[in-house]
Amino acid sequence: MSRRDQLRVELGDRSYDIVVGSALLDDAGALIAPVVRQKRAIIVTDETVAKLHLDRLRAGLDKGGIAHQAVILPPGESTKDFAHFSKLCEDILGFGIERRTPLIALGGGVIGDMTGFAAATLLRGLDYVQIPTTLLSQVDSSVGGKTAIDSKHGKNLIGAFHQPVLVLADIDTLSTLPRRELLAGYAEVVKYGLIRDPAFYEWLETAGPKLIDGDIDARREAVLKSCAAKAAIVAIDEHENGDRQLLNFGHTFGHALEIETGLGDVLLHGEGVALGMRMAFDFSARLGLCPKDIPERVRRHYAAVGLPSNLKQIANARRMDAGVLVRHMAKDKKVRDGRITLILSRGIGAAFIANDIERPAIEAFLADETGAAVH
Ligand SMILES: NC(=O)c1ccc[n+]([C@@H]2O[C@H](COP(=O)([O-])OP(=O)(O)OC[C@H]3O[C@@H](n4cnc5c(N)ncnc54)[C@H](O)[C@@H]3O)[C@@H](O)[C@H]2O)c1
Ligand SMILES: [Zn+2]
Repeated sequence: MSRRDQLRVELGDRSYDIVVGSALLDDAGALIAPVVRQKRAIIVTDETVAKLHLDRLRAGLDKGGIAHQAVILPPGESTKDFAHFSKLCEDILGFGIERRTPLIALGGGVIGDMTGFAAATLLRGLDYVQIPTTLLSQVDSSVGGKTAIDSKHGKNLIGAFHQPVLVLADIDTLSTLPRRELLAGYAEVVKYGLIRDPAFYEWLETAGPKLIDGDIDARREAVLKSCAAKAAIVAIDEHENGDRQLLNFGHTFGHALEIETGLGDVLLHGEGVALGMRMAFDFSARLGLCPKDIPERVRRHYAAVGLPSNLKQIANARRMDAGVLVRHMAKDKKVRDGRITLILSRGIGAAFIANDIERPAIEAFLADETGAAVH
């Protein structure tokens, strides 16, 4: 059998395992059977993933004696709305489920977040298994129990904390992922090194390009390390009152860019995060908090793998305005009493939570950034 590794997210009686490796879909039945309370499951997936990977999951469940039915949603972020959520819930209830019937999320973060939220609310709480199929969902969204759908007022504003009972990160599924999606997920991998683990970041500086080009061992190692990092943080701060905020490194700047570019294909979430992390380093250096050569080192790595470093690499960066970006940042759901919380850095692996940065300093920095975008 090909190599498999197992990690545990320690959350008392809600603890669960993350399995990372190859051919997990083929053995899904055997892997899932010990953690579910009924030999029957409802699979939730999207059309793209269904075409590529659903048959293998179905066969894997058959082999393990787990009966299954599937709900197939349209792909993309626009599916994460009330209308699709409502239909998803009605479809699942239409199958005549019981409280012991588990859901299985097969797909990227959109499917994981929606299935998790359905599991949190249907019959006041069902078990669910995450089978993430994008790099982003394998290293980030499938672990930690944050579930949500979007509102017209913003992304992920309607949701719940609800932990899965198992996560199966099948590295093989990444082989069908478009390169741009892979890179977007890779930004979250880099994040774990940048916030807390300089040795991991150094390893990525060498292994990153081959990981992107398809090296299975590098992918498995990176997913494993990333999940371990996230699991450790979630175990000490499940509801994001303290250390879990570090995982938002790059996200406050990045989120403002995402909103400004329309929360769509112009700038993928991971691309926004990559830009946001680079900006957080430059801003930290400008405030004298971080050595000046660090942002350059990060830029070099981005260039080596193909991630964007500069706003001018975004299609319509010309229209960005520093004041507007700061207002987007101030609307982030992590804002407390109107103060923008930024995650800043003292160097590679040394991120920290900064609550005391004045808005004019942020705006002046963004004015330079957006100015730099148009020359
Ligand atoms: N819950 C959390 O903690 C958390 C954390 C980060 C992000 N998120 C959420 O995750 C979502 C983004 O996740 P995502 O980037 O996985 O997006 P996604 O689910 O939209 O997947 C991206 C695209 O890739 C396709 N796809 C998925 N797997 C594939 C595969 N193996 N081969 C080919 N195509 C495949 C999908 O159909 C989709 O078109 C956002 O909604 C974000 O808010 C949640
Ligand atoms: Zn993210």
